Amino acid sequence: MLAITQNVFGGPEVLHVVEVDRPQPGPGEVLVRVAATSVNAADWKVRAGLIGGLGDPPLTLGLDVSGVVDELGPGVDRFAVGDPVYGMVFGGGNAEYVVAQADTLALKPKVIDFVHAAALPTAALTAWQALAGLGAGQRVLVHAAAGGVGHLAVQIAKHRGAFVVGTARAANHAYLRGLGADEVIDYTAVDFATTVRDVDIVLDLVGGEYGSRSAAVLRPGGRLIDTQGSDAEADPRYERFYVEPSGASLREIATMVERGHLRATIDQVLPLAEIAEAHRISESGRVRGKIVLAWNPPA
Ligand SMILES: NC(=O)c1ccc[n+]([C@@H]2O[C@H](COP(=O)([O-])OP(=O)(O)OC[C@H]3O[C@@H](n4cnc5c(N)ncnc54)[C@H](OP(=O)(O)O)[C@@H]3O)[C@@H](O)[C@H]2O)c1
Repeated sequence: MLAITQNVFGGPEVLHVVEVDRPQPGPGEVLVRVAATSVNAADWKVRAGLIGGLGDPPLTLGLDVSGVVDELGPGVDRFAVGDPVYGMVFGGGNAEYVVAQADTLALKPKVIDFVHAAALPTAALTAWQALAGLGAGQRVLVHAAAGGVGHLAVQIAKHRGAFVVGTARAANHAYLRGLGADEVIDYTAVDFATTVRDVDIVLDLVGGEYGSRSAAVLRPGGRLIDTQGSDAEADPRYERFYVEPSGASLREIATMVERGHLRATIDQVLPLAEIAEAHRISESGRVRGKIVLAWNPPA
């Protein structure tokens, strides 16, 4: 089978399409024929050696997959060969086939194609799990609201009945209001800490010095949920968040998609052979929604 591998940490140019052996599913595992995968910030950070998680090269990146069940390992009865599925894997998704734990997969939402399904797993699980404690009537501030996680967090928060504030460049404001944001702040022109207050949850997808400014807008008892490290780590309201693969959460997310409450925005679809370009675009920090990579992109 074909896979994208890298033999060293480095820039996008270290990514190459190579022929490798097809993996075999073990007990509790499923072999998925990958239709599409998407780029997460973690992909280019691991590729460059900025964060760990997949060990040393050679390695194959790719956290998100949508595709078809090709083979079942011993003990798997939740799926059948031929089922359309989507899920979050710990690397290996940038390949024609990937082995996944059966309990990290769910049936693909019926109303979307494989491209839209591949955009969801890691970003939607992040938003879903990070906002698990958000209730109706609460105020949430989502930083990087137009990005992969952010645009799904806005929709999930809105669906839970929250008042949703997002930070984004002005070019994304109409888009975010269309997703349900109640207030949008142009962070290039205004310091959000001077215009927002009494926030129950900040979902900080930017980090760094956004941390202490975010802590300042919380109401007493509010929570600062950070995905990557910030200058607010010593604050008692600071919580470091790590997404967990979960088929159960993906089943709930699929229901939300099928009821028309959640949809991934696809910024671009590229062939997997053009993954280096996809990483360059992702690293620009300007993606609206998600970049999806497909083995056979639709015309
Ligand atoms: N810990 C975990 O489990 C976990 C899970 C998922 C993601 N993450 C991390 O969360 C971060 C976000 O991930 P992502 O996939 O959503 O990234 P992404 O899709 O690459 O984010 C791109 C978006 O960021 C916005 N942006 C850039 N700088 C901004 C700023 N200073 N203020 C507000 N918005 C800004 C851009 O919007 P504009 O064009 O409007 O600026 C763009 O739409 C990444 O660092 C990722 O590694 C962590």
